[in-house]
Amino acid sequence: MKILGIETSCDETAVCLLEASGDVTNATFAILGNALYSQVAIHKEYGGVFPAVAKREHAKNLVPLLGRALEDARLLVPFPTEMSVIEKTAGFLSELDNKKVELQTLLAREIGLFDELWKFLRQYQKPPIDMIAVTNGPGLEPALWVGVNFSKALAIAWNLPTYPINHLEGHVLSPLIEAHQLQKIAFPALSLIISGGHTELVLIKDWLDYEVIGQTKDDAVGEAFDKVARMLDLPYPGGPEISKLVDQYNKQNDELTQKNIKEKYAVNFPRPMIDSPDLDFSFSGLKTAVLYFIKGQNAPLSPELKAAIAREFQDAVIEVLVSKTQKALENYEIKNLILGGGVIANSAIRAAFEKMILASPHIHLIIPPISISTDNALMIAVAGYFNFLLGRKSRGDFTAIGHLSL
Ligand code: KG4
Ligand code: ZN
Repeated sequence: MKILGIETSCDETAVCLLEASGDVTNATFAILGNALYSQVAIHKEYGGVFPAVAKREHAKNLVPLLGRALEDARLLVPFPTEMSVIEKTAGFLSELDNKKVELQTLLAREIGLFDELWKFLRQYQKPPIDMIAVTNGPGLEPALWVGVNFSKALAIAWNLPTYPINHLEGHVLSPLIEAHQLQKIAFPALSLIISGGHTELVLIKDWLDYEVIGQTKDDAVGEAFDKVARMLDLPYPGGPEISKLVDQYNKQNDELTQKNIKEKYAVNFPRPMIDSPDLDFSFSGLKTAVLYFIKGQNAPLSPELKAAIAREFQDAVIEVLVSKTQKALENYEIKNLILGGGVIANSAIRAAFEKMILASPHIHLIIPPISISTDNALMIAVAGYFNFLLGRKSRGDFTAIGHLSL
């Protein structure tokens, strides 16, 4: 079946066409179209995501992205212009006219979106899509609403069933886009989700059956990366910048040189909650420790010190993440570990978990490819397919929920 995936929870506008087949034991996917517009360049000047701007950009970009995804999938077919065929399409277009007010009302708050969509719907034939999967939370509520209302409008216009999808479930299930990863799935599984908004350890008891067993008490990991990057005068989003800086530093300096630099400046940050008996996290103390350290220098940071700070910060994060995950694996007799969320794009974090799992060969490690670690529509379509396979009902009455939990 062909699934249209839509994601607008933060600052990425994404639309995809995914072909899915098979059942839960052998599901396979083929990417037919994958269009993504990152608003990063726009939000850069604010130093973070500005919700009203994100909303405006989603509304502006959804229709062009839909067109691109369908075009890539070779499913973008204009209505023919010859009179004989126009008569055949007249039925669809007059049915569409009857829905005009409903669509207009639905999209009343998304500036410009109705006009764009209306033009599109009258220009192109209904594509052979079987269902829509759209993120309805968690995320920035104004941003989520654009995708939610857009998907509802398409569902009405094209008579399609829609599955509202939890963004975190999308991250968890994203690796299953690769068939070989599905073969490793066994329950109970554990998922570590690390993104800009979340840091959660999730026990997966069975398909779509989740229990959050650990989470951050304050900042999310990605948020800490972004804030520390700002302290180091690195551009937004800071996660990839810190990661790049550390990788460069590691390449240019061997371990002994790095140890000397660390000692010279006394760069030592805490590993918050690493020894606490629970599975929760806290990153705000670590962030503050970096801030005070920088303030304590009373001088601009040398490139060498900047890199040493980034390295020590990243090391602290990694040690805490690995230690808590290890604890959860032991406590719950886990068979496989699934990593998800934008921060999983970090090469040192991936390597640390790969190393950790070497010592526990009975546990399978499942990580999404870097290309779909950060927000995208494919993960939403994959999750949509599993919702469909497992008998969840499609819905037309859902809302956007900023604080939706798993
Ligand atoms: O999952 P995601 O794309 O969006 C949310 O759902 O939040 O995650 C975005 C977060 C940002 O905080 C970004 O800085 C972080 O993921 N991130 C990284 C890396 N790439 C993205 N953090 C550390 N290292 C990276 N390579
Ligand atoms: Zn995300």
